[in-house]
Amino acid sequence: MSFAALKNDVFLRALQRQPVPYTPIWLMRQAGRYLDEYRATRARAGSFMGLAQNPSYATEVTLQPLERFPLDAAILFSDILTVPHAMGLGLEFVAGEGPQFERPIQTEAAVKALAVPDMADLQYVFDAVTMIRRELDGRVPLIGFAGSPFTIGCYMIEGQSTREYRLIKTMMFDRPDLLHHILAINAQATTAYLNAQIQAGAQAVMLFDSWGGVLPDGLYQTFSLAYMRQVIDGLIRQVDDVSIPVIAFTKGGGLWLEQIAASGCDAVGLDWTMGLGQARKRTADRVALQGNLDPMALFANEAAVRAEARRLIDDFGPVGGGGHVFNLGHGISQFTPPERVAALVDEVHQYSVRYHTDGA
Ligand code: CP3
Repeated sequence: MSFAALKNDVFLRALQRQPVPYTPIWLMRQAGRYLDEYRATRARAGSFMGLAQNPSYATEVTLQPLERFPLDAAILFSDILTVPHAMGLGLEFVAGEGPQFERPIQTEAAVKALAVPDMADLQYVFDAVTMIRRELDGRVPLIGFAGSPFTIGCYMIEGQSTREYRLIKTMMFDRPDLLHHILAINAQATTAYLNAQIQAGAQAVMLFDSWGGVLPDGLYQTFSLAYMRQVIDGLIRQVDDVSIPVIAFTKGGGLWLEQIAASGCDAVGLDWTMGLGQARKRTADRVALQGNLDPMALFANEAAVRAEARRLIDDFGPVGGGGHVFNLGHGISQFTPPERVAALVDEVHQYSVRYHTDGA
């Protein structure tokens, strides 16, 4: 497959700790409900899945934030729960309540019946990737993504979002063999899913481990990180001599930073609970760092948003042989004023130049 040459590769270079003129920025959930145009397209599509399963709609909403802000990367519009949906669990997004599975995995028989899905059932995702690459026309790189085996496991077992993680943790403590069986299947499925995204045109991939941080130390390594590592080990890392960088993000994973950095990823995503300077010391520039503005900072006045961006960039310090991709510490809130995003992107681009030797 051939696509237009990249005009802005600052994001891909920063992930690989190569010199760049400024700190690149993109935002988790940058295509979403805080944008009026997203809500309009979603209304036309009828539902979240109607949007995600239609490559033309998915392409349209992927590009919306790039029309408003000079972001340095696009992220595929989809969801981490497409994989369990393809496993036959029956995903539905109930308005105001988030995702729900009609057939969660709650019995030993259901665990044993689980299988790696046929990637043909996820073709709509790969078609969207290719269509987005075409539409981007080399403007910025396209990020593909998947949930970590543990994080999608949470939804598969609980059937919906949860505060206690009672069902998955019960399985983990009571029948670890069953949970390992699910996670091994999830890891195989996730590897195949990300590789198909890469083959369809994704130029970097990110593993979202949104809920690994709820695990006890010791069990995080066994039940989440080990399976993320399996996925990373199986990924295609080069296409036509161009590297495909991998970002690993465990929300609440600060305690395990060195171990995540040693998972084989190129970059570690950070939530807002750990300073970039401290994270950098602990990883000694062996990986790039992505993050980590508290998404709630975007509700402050514009001067405060800009000051907070500068504080993070100062904390990372002179970039040298390191790599920093500016982002939020978790997804953007649906109530965020878009003008604050514009100010953030502008401040990061302007202010960061002083810390790059390749600065313009
Ligand atoms: O970042 C992007 O712009 C790309 C799109 C993207 C979505 N979901 C679209 C979406 C990405 C990268 C995701 C990942 C995702 N999905 C995660 C991992 C990241 C994280 O936030 O921790 C998780 C846990 C999910 C599961 C999920 N999807 C939940 C819990 C919800 C409901 C909560 C909510 O924010 O409403 C979703 C729905 C969802 N996925 C929305 C979007 C834009 C909002 C739903 C809508 O439009 O109605």
